[in-house]
Amino acid sequence: MIFPPVSTLHEHRAHRKAAHDDPERYWLTYAHALDWMQCPSKALDAAGLWFPDGRLNASVNCLDRHLEMRGNATALIWQGEEESHVLHLSYRQLHAQVCRMANVLRDHGIMPGDRVAIHLPGVPEGVVAMLACARIGAIHVVLFGGFSPEAIADRLADSGAGVIITADVGRRGAKRIPFKATIDAALDHGAGTAIRHVLVVAVTSETVPMTEGRDRFLSPLLSAASDLCTPEPMDANAPLFLLYTSGSTGKPKGIVHGTGGYLLWAAYTHALVFAHTPGDIFWCTADIGWITGHSYVVYGPLANGGTILLFEGMPSHPRPGRWWQVIEKHRVTSFYTSPTAIRALMTEGDTIPKRYDLFSLRVLGSVGEPISQEAWGWFHATIGGGRCPLADTWWQTETGGIMISLVPGAIEARPGAAAFPLPGVTALLLDASGRILEGEAEGMLCIAGSWPGRALGIWGNDAHFHATYLRPFPGYYFTGDGARRDRDGYFWLTGRVDDVINVSGHRIGSAEVEDALAMEPAIAECAAVGVPHALKGQAIVVFIVPNGPASDDIQARAARAVTTRLGRYAAPERVYVVTDLPRTRSGKIVRRLLRKIASGDIEGFGDLSTLANPAAVTILIEAMRREASSA
Ligand code: PRX
Repeated sequence: MIFPPVSTLHEHRAHRKAAHDDPERYWLTYAHALDWMQCPSKALDAAGLWFPDGRLNASVNCLDRHLEMRGNATALIWQGEEESHVLHLSYRQLHAQVCRMANVLRDHGIMPGDRVAIHLPGVPEGVVAMLACARIGAIHVVLFGGFSPEAIADRLADSGAGVIITADVGRRGAKRIPFKATIDAALDHGAGTAIRHVLVVAVTSETVPMTEGRDRFLSPLLSAASDLCTPEPMDANAPLFLLYTSGSTGKPKGIVHGTGGYLLWAAYTHALVFAHTPGDIFWCTADIGWITGHSYVVYGPLANGGTILLFEGMPSHPRPGRWWQVIEKHRVTSFYTSPTAIRALMTEGDTIPKRYDLFSLRVLGSVGEPISQEAWGWFHATIGGGRCPLADTWWQTETGGIMISLVPGAIEARPGAAAFPLPGVTALLLDASGRILEGEAEGMLCIAGSWPGRALGIWGNDAHFHATYLRPFPGYYFTGDGARRDRDGYFWLTGRVDDVINVSGHRIGSAEVEDALAMEPAIAECAAVGVPHALKGQAIVVFIVPNGPASDDIQARAARAVTTRLGRYAAPERVYVVTDLPRTRSGKIVRRLLRKIASGDIEGFGDLSTLANPAAVTILIEAMRREASSA
C-alpha cells in the first residue's frame, strides 16, 4: 500500500477530518504503508505509545522491501565536491553496503539497544551507517560536524555510545576539516565516554594518527564483511535514534525517536508535502546531523522508494551557482532547503540561477526558520520558475517530521505562511494563561493530542521531557514557538517565545552559551540573547560583566569560551562589556530588555520599577549609544 495522494482541497479536508474523527482507524490504515514483522493491532494506547504491539525494522522498510520491484533503481546519488566524483547506488547496492556495515558493527560487539555515534561529512557512509544501526537494532546518535570536541564529548558521555564512526577529514574546497582529530580531542577530554572503537572512513588519502587497539579504518573491514545481514525485529517503540538538540536549559538533550511511529510520520509527511512519485529525485540539503537530515535525507524518501541526492559541497563553491548546477546535472525534482541558504543565495542575484536549466524541479520546500515574504518570493520565482509549489514547513526535532505545511495542489500558498496543520495534527494557539484562542489570533503554538512522529522522550531524563513540553500548558504539547493565525486559518510562525536562539537554522539555548561563558574566570556575570540578523535570521549577542577590571582581550576570551565549548556555529556576533545586568527582584536577568536593547530599540521601556536595579538599563543604553557613536 502507498500513501494516498492529497492534491485537492477536498481531499485535504477529507484527510484532516478522517484523522481527527477516528485517529485510531486512520493511522492503523496508513500504518500498512510500512512493512511490519508483526502488524500492529492498535494505533495509540493509553500510555501514549504508537503501534504498541507492532514489530518492524526501519532498514527493511527503507531497503529490502524495494528490492523486488526497484532493486536496480537508484536509491542514492552522491555528488562529490569535485565535479567528477559521482556515485550512483541502486537499492540493491545500498542494501549490500548497509548489510556489510551492519555486520562490521555486530563484529564490534554492538547489540540491539546499544548506541553508535556517527560523525561524518557529506559522504554516503553517513546514510549507510544510520541504516546499518537500524538493521541491527542499534540506536544511532549522529553528531553534527560543526560541534567542538567538548560538545562531542558531552554528547558521547550522555548517550553512552560504545562505537563511533567518523572520517579522516571532511573536504571543503581546498580546506580539510579535521574530523578524526576532533574525535581524538573529544576522547582526550571526555573521561566520561564509553567509546571502545573508533571506525574511520578514509575520505582522502590523508594520514591521520590512529590509536592502536581503538581505531580502525572501515574500508578493509567492509570488504571482508558479508553483504547479507539478518535484520533485527524491533518493537515499534524501541528507540531508532537519539538526536541532541538545545532547549532553555544549559544541557543539550538527547531527543529519542522510536521506530514505528517515527518512520511512518517521516514517510507519510514526505509523501504528502512533496507529492512523492516514483522516479522523483529528492534533494534535501540538510546535514544528516540534524533532524531534517534524518527524516528527509534518509528515512522518509527511502521508505517511499525514492532517489535521494547527497551533495558533499557548498552552495557557492568553487563558484556561485554550484547548487543550481547540481540540480541541472542530476535532474532534481524536489528541493528542500533552509531560509538561511536562500537568503545567502538571493544576494548573488538572479543572473546566476538563470544560467541553469531548472525545469526538472517540480516542488520546493523550506525549513528551519521563519521565511520572509521576500525570500519566499525569490525562491519561488527565480528557482521554481513561478511554477513549483513552495512549501514552508514548520516542525521540530521533537516532532519527528513536518507538522504545519502547504500541501501542494491542495492549498493555495501565502508567501511566508506555513499554511495548515497536516492531517492528524491539531495545532492550537494559547494565550499566556493557557486559554485557547479562536479564529484570527496570535499566541503560543501548542499541539493537542499525539501524532505518530512525536518523540518518545529525552534520553535518560523523561521527567525533563514532561517538564519542558507537557507541563507549561497541561494537556498540550508546547512547541516553544509563537504563531499567528489569519482569518482564513493559515499559520504564520513568529519565532521562539523561549530562550532558544535560531542562528542560521541552528538551535542554540541562551543557557548553553551562558554556561560556556561562566567557565571563563574573567567573567563574573553574563547573558546571551538572540537579535534579528539579515542573513542568519538571528545572531547571538552577549553581555558580560567582568570579574574585576576588564582586560583588553576580554571580548575575544568570551567569544572563545563559547566556540570552544559549543563550536564555531555558536560564535557570538557581538560581545558587550557592561557593569551590571537588569534583574528582577528575585534575581533573574531580564533577557527581554537585553534583547530589545541589543536590537537597537532603546526607546519606550515602560515601567522599570519591578527591576531590582533599574539604573542598569540606563547604563546599558548609554553603553550602546557610546558604541554606536564610536562605530
Ligand atoms: O523555532 C522553530 C524553528 O526551528 C525550531 C526547531 O528547530 P529544530 O528542532 O532544530 O528543527 C529544525 C528543523 C525542523 C522550531 O521550534 N522552525 C523550524 N521550521 C520553521 C521554524 N520556524 C519558522 N518556520 C518554519 N518553517
